[in-house]
Amino acid sequence: QPEPQTGSVLAGKRVVITAGPTREPIDPVRYISNHSSGKMGYALAEAAARAGAVVVLVSGPVTLPVPRGVEMRPVQTATDMLAAASQAVDEGCDIFIATAAVADYRPKATAGDKIKKNSEAMALELVRNPDTLATIAARPDAPFTVGFAAETRDVERYATDKMQRKKLDMIVANDVSVPGLGFNSDQNAVSVFWPEGRADIGPASKQAIAGRLVALIAQHCEQGVN
Ligand code: CTP
Ligand code: CA
Repeated sequence: QPEPQTGSVLAGKRVVITAGPTREPIDPVRYISNHSSGKMGYALAEAAARAGAVVVLVSGPVTLPVPRGVEMRPVQTATDMLAAASQAVDEGCDIFIATAAVADYRPKATAGDKIKKNSEAMALELVRNPDTLATIAARPDAPFTVGFAAETRDVERYATDKMQRKKLDMIVANDVSVPGLGFNSDQNAVSVFWPEGRADIGPASKQAIAGRLVALIAQHCEQGVN
């Protein structure tokens, strides 16, 4: 299939994207995190900038270069991510895309000193983190909001549930149980759902998928009511 031409489909639009993992500190030298590489979010930021958008990328710690023309705002924790994303949306945002793999829980307390190994077992108490995507989607001035869902089974059902629960305009789902695709990989295959339809993209490079997603988002946010 030929790549559809994205041209300047996002000219004049302000896009905010979250990407990468978050890190939730346990003590000064340890944290809870995950294997997110940030590749899908960075590829989307690059594709959106190429399509003419002003792009702010709120990113957890990753090792990727910042795409040309993209403003990157680094964060560590889920709490930082919510603050930075809310600030970026306050500054003006037409399209919000959440690709970040946010830690769902954080340690209830962060130890001030390195925890010593002085017992045979230990328990860490965790508390729920704020949901950046749901918080942005619930704003009265919500932008066109796109979520991601990584699932290992019942992809369509879990993804469309998530879209309704979080009041999203679109959700991009991938089946992370497929070896060599998705998390920490260069290749991906996704199913995109919106209230009246769906599209299946890939398997393809994350760059190619990002280009197709930008075209789909541009199409649908124009039709949107906001
Ligand atoms: N997300 C977010 N903030 C969180 C958790 C998730 O912004 N604290 C966003 C992710 O960036 C993604 C979407 O919500 O776009 C779905 O994330 P996912 O982990 O699949 O869903 P959860 O709502 O956390 O549900 P669960 O992990 O239980 O499936
Ligand atoms: Ca989660």
